[in-house]
Amino acid sequence: MTLIKPHGGHLVNQIESESYQPETDLQINIDAMALSDLELIANGAYSPLKGFMNQADYQSVVETMHLVSGEPWSIPITLPVEEETSKRLKKGDTAALVKENETYGYIQIEDIYQPDKEKEAQLVYQTTELAHPGVKKLFSRPDHYVSGEIKLVKRPKRAHSESFFLDPKETRARFEQLGWNKVVGFQTRNPIHRAHEYIQKTALETVDGLFINPLVGETKSDDIPGDVRMESYQVLLKHYYPKNHVFLAVFAAAMRYAGPREAIFHAIVRKNFGCSHFIVGRDHAGVGNYYGTYDAQKIFSKFKDGELGITPMFFEHSFYCKACEGMASHKTCPHDDDQHVILSGTKVRELLRSGQRPPATFSRPEVVDVLIAGLKKAEGIKS
Ligand code: ADX
Repeated sequence: MTLIKPHGGHLVNQIESESYQPETDLQINIDAMALSDLELIANGAYSPLKGFMNQADYQSVVETMHLVSGEPWSIPITLPVEEETSKRLKKGDTAALVKENETYGYIQIEDIYQPDKEKEAQLVYQTTELAHPGVKKLFSRPDHYVSGEIKLVKRPKRAHSESFFLDPKETRARFEQLGWNKVVGFQTRNPIHRAHEYIQKTALETVDGLFINPLVGETKSDDIPGDVRMESYQVLLKHYYPKNHVFLAVFAAAMRYAGPREAIFHAIVRKNFGCSHFIVGRDHAGVGNYYGTYDAQKIFSKFKDGELGITPMFFEHSFYCKACEGMASHKTCPHDDDQHVILSGTKVRELLRSGQRPPATFSRPEVVDVLIAGLKKAEGIKS
């Protein structure tokens, strides 16, 4: 019994002990997104990357969705710095990577370059509109990119769910312990509603285990906070999922909202965590109307057979059908749309924030309880 090989053949490990301290007075201030990327490079989640991308890889990823080495890779992983900082740095230097006076790691500088952000936005996000949260983020970050291998010396502080932050080598060990060979990964930035549950369990019918891997890095402000979601996942798992076929751990990355490109990235990362399969449903990692409902599925055909290694499992838009009295999709249900319980994410968040319950055909009541209580608390703390 063997798990799928990591992307590029082996898991990268760029983690050093806290006592590792190369001699340098150079510092680079990093933001939350770069800090999460730093850890995910170091722990092998982004294998085969060993550092932030150099210009050649950056251009190749933006233009061709491949690293220069030929491995598929769809999202630039870059370290932006201010012009002033870039002037103090040169090739061959080592700089500490610092956030709020804490040194989290070091970078051995390979090159410093200016990206073409218009092109990056157009090719990665398919738009240059600042109304797109991923594009807004891209343009709000500094305009020079520093590349080079990194070392991580300190883990970021966890705001919640500490025990659910696992490295790929740990999730792989868990899957092996559980006796799983075929594992399907599930990405989410939302609470798990009935449609999510339906596609997860349908996928699980054909593999050994389901790896629920919610993204808990930076998300846009109107997404449901990670701590509330984590509580809702645990309640859901307790009541509705079999223990020996489901495993929950977080994905600490920031959300890019890059739709199709991000679906490829999400799949590659889950392969590193040990998944042989990956669920891609409707408008995966999408936002607003920037992407077509199934664009994030279609993009997989741009890769040669076996090139990605991980097998995507595609699902149609799913919903509860009153006439079928069960979960369904247009592929399996003959009834009219007025029989289908479909609520947009925005509508559900509105309902929850005003303390109203979405129907049990949309979301499990135990999950709704947690979400309403969690949101009340979060709003209370804010105001
Ligand atoms: S995402 O940004 O993380 O993709 P979300 O948490 O809503 O957003 O989706 C998680 C996964 O479930 C994605 O693969 C998405 O395509 C899929 N999905 C979400 N809602 C549905 C639905 N109603 N029917 C089918 N797939 C869905």
